[in-house]
Amino acid sequence: MNNIKLGFFDSGVGGFTVLKSILTRHGDVNAVYLGDTLRLPYGKRSVSEIREIANEVVTWLNYQDISALIIACNTTNSLALDIVKQVSRVPIYGLLESVHETIDSSDTKVGVLSTPSTAFSGAYKKSIHSYKPNVTVFEQACPSLVPLIETGQLNSPELRSAAKNYLQPLIDNAVDSIILGCSHYPLIEHIFIDLLPDKIRLIDPSQSLAKKLDSYFGCPQDLDKFIPSFSNVQFCSTSDSFGFAARAQHWLGIDTEVKLVSLISNACVL
Ligand code: DGL
Repeated sequence: MNNIKLGFFDSGVGGFTVLKSILTRHGDVNAVYLGDTLRLPYGKRSVSEIREIANEVVTWLNYQDISALIIACNTTNSLALDIVKQVSRVPIYGLLESVHETIDSSDTKVGVLSTPSTAFSGAYKKSIHSYKPNVTVFEQACPSLVPLIETGQLNSPELRSAAKNYLQPLIDNAVDSIILGCSHYPLIEHIFIDLLPDKIRLIDPSQSLAKKLDSYFGCPQDLDKFIPSFSNVQFCSTSDSFGFAARAQHWLGIDTEVKLVSLISNACVL
């Protein structure tokens, strides 16, 4: 393994999907993962709060000796990318910047499921239009999904019915594909697949983000993907570290220690 260390952050377990995509493509890389559970969910917060939080999170990550920063949170990516760029001392990789390559040239209508803040920002529409101006983009805010996913109760009728309600306007608009514009949503991909007609494709932007990291780790020779072990990932949370360890066990199937950190005290180095 090389000396590259990646820094990830999200409000909670959503960024696990991004971490998993990267480790599946590149094997067990060194990483630090921060779940800012104290402020979860980000997606219902004001723009100024999201920007202030981004500043704190990236400042903290600057002290963790990372080689590159992965914005595993679309809400921060949509509303505070300028702050992240300003504060980070290392190269940045985001989900929004990775999405273009995943849209088929034949797609004329694309849906985006996201947090209310991401939808409000219109960032996905802007990003897609900068590469594909003729695509019609339908942005759908999904306020109840993140809190429901964080409970871990994937079979709850409430979660299924919320997913159905959010998908319906996109189905009615006959979209060709749907972008999972919140890193929590790939965790319930199976529910979306179940509810969608076969012809609508689901896009997880973390897949193309993982490809972008070939510039660090090389393009994998073996197309049989790695089974990630997460043994070189240090998990941290800003509240309830035992609860976060239980969620890592639930979503990633691993027993790991989670370090409780305070972002206010920048001196807290791992
Ligand atoms: N998973 C994050 C995102 O991709 C944040 C979700 C939230 O905390 O509302 O937007």
